[in-house]
Amino acid sequence: MTKIAVLGSINTDYVFEANNLPKAGETVFGKNVKINFGGKGANEAVCASRLGADVCLFGAVGDDAFSEKNIANLKKEKVNTEFIKHCKNVFGGSAGIFVGDNTNSIVVVSGANAEVDLKYFEKIKNNLKSFDVVGTQLEIKKEVVEKLLDFAEKNKIKVVFNPSPMTKLDEKLLKKCSFVVVNEIEVQSLPNYKNVEQILKHYEGRLIVTLGADGACFFEDGKVQHSAAVDVKVVDTTGAGDTFLASFMVAIAEGKTVKQAVEFANICASLKCTKLGAQTAMPTRKEVDKFKK
Ligand code: RIB
Repeated sequence: MTKIAVLGSINTDYVFEANNLPKAGETVFGKNVKINFGGKGANEAVCASRLGADVCLFGAVGDDAFSEKNIANLKKEKVNTEFIKHCKNVFGGSAGIFVGDNTNSIVVVSGANAEVDLKYFEKIKNNLKSFDVVGTQLEIKKEVVEKLLDFAEKNKIKVVFNPSPMTKLDEKLLKKCSFVVVNEIEVQSLPNYKNVEQILKHYEGRLIVTLGADGACFFEDGKVQHSAAVDVKVVDTTGAGDTFLASFMVAIAEGKTVKQAVEFANICASLKCTKLGAQTAMPTRKEVDKFKK
């Protein structure tokens, strides 16, 4: 069984579904409301576990009722929670998610995720050496991700990084990652970006750009390689990026090539989009295998 660690956020998602999302200053009626388990870190951990990996999540929760439920859910999903920090007098991370036709907007409030600090990283860092792949994002402090990437480089740990929510990043930092996965909006904020082809070539072998319904691309054998998404009826794209990253990590940990890993991740992310919610909608290995047949 492949071993995957995720260092990242744990959120409760408050999901509002509407036909048309409100513009600034506007009030609209919605058609559905749900409270779901989310957070890019927890989403990736749950997805990798459903795809058959042995997964450990490193992060933090608060002392509210939703944080307790998040931990219970992670355990139910067979994610190891023993290193998760339990913080006093703070709420767990929260996200307001507004789902419209084929689109969504998300507001994240860090809460306990902000307690994933350098002191915590110092405590847990040596555990990371025993995993095949480590995944991370930017819903925890950037300084912690920077430390993780330094540590990973020194200890030859493979890290797959999704810099989301995107912030200003240093090229040196990105070059410490085994893989960087960004969507077509995030890619434009990478250092030295001119266009997709140029930046893929610039970070050859390391950068994957996801293109929503158009799949994903990367640079190999002197040219941009494109892998198509699966044609599905899209219900909700929330967590599709997390599904892509988690399934890509699982495939890489299993020894697949980048091309094979991107193909697998495209299938998993497409399947996720056929259902509402982030974790609730992520496919199991059995569902993916059945779909492939
Ligand atoms: O990527 C989707 C996730 O982003 C949601 O689950 C939400 O919690 C935010 O972190």
